[in-house]
Amino acid sequence: MPDALVGAPGGSLVEPLRWSLPTAATTRALGVALGQFLCAGDLLVLTGDLGAGKTTLTQGLGEGLGVRGPITSPTFVIARVHPSLVGGPALVHADAYRLGGGLELDDLDLDASLEDSVTVVEWGHGVAELLSDDRLELALEVVSAGARRAALTLTGARWQRPEAVEALASLSPTSPTSPTSPPEG
Ligand SMILES: Nc1ncnc2c1ncn2[C@@H]1O[C@H](COP(=O)(O)OP(=O)(O)OP(=O)(O)O)[C@@H](O)[C@H]1O
Ligand SMILES: [Mg+2]
Repeated sequence: MPDALVGAPGGSLVEPLRWSLPTAATTRALGVALGQFLCAGDLLVLTGDLGAGKTTLTQGLGEGLGVRGPITSPTFVIARVHPSLVGGPALVHADAYRLGGGLELDDLDLDASLEDSVTVVEWGHGVAELLSDDRLELALEVVSAGARRAALTLTGARWQRPEAVEALASLSPTSPTSPTSPPEG
């Protein structure tokens, strides 16, 4: 569970959900939990300084979704498509660091569409807003060499629904991940 869950009156505005991430494994586990939860069409925007753990979280996301790896920092490409190994949505992993303006995934000519994929954009703040009104924005903050803090902002009608808020609030990065590993490929 997040450290604190505060719902604003009326349920139309939700405070960010917060987690303490004491180790890289915990950050990855939060990604796994999110990956098991997210559906085709969902957009996750990651922010945080260099080395905050955006790619580490994305690796967990890929594990949770059951997509083909490896997931690395997309250094020389803007985005990479990781197809599903389990008949689910692909993971589109984009890095907006070097993009000056808006991110138009359509312009990237990817072999995947936003509707059919789970899309994660590193450095996406101020860039990925164009992609969808419904987004999860996860801000990672460095606390110490080994520890991070995460705050998840829920934006748009999809994420303001009480069921969605409740489901996200119950994600626990410390719970053990599935004992069965995803298939290799
Ligand atoms: N609690 C933690 N959560 C995530 N990563 C951690 C944590 N503690 C230590 N680390 C380490 O910090 C580094 C995070 O690197 P990562 O590539 O995930 O960051 P990033 O935000 O994607 O960086 P960049 O801005 O360069 O893309 C890794 O070496 C990881 O092992
Ligand atoms: Mg990265």
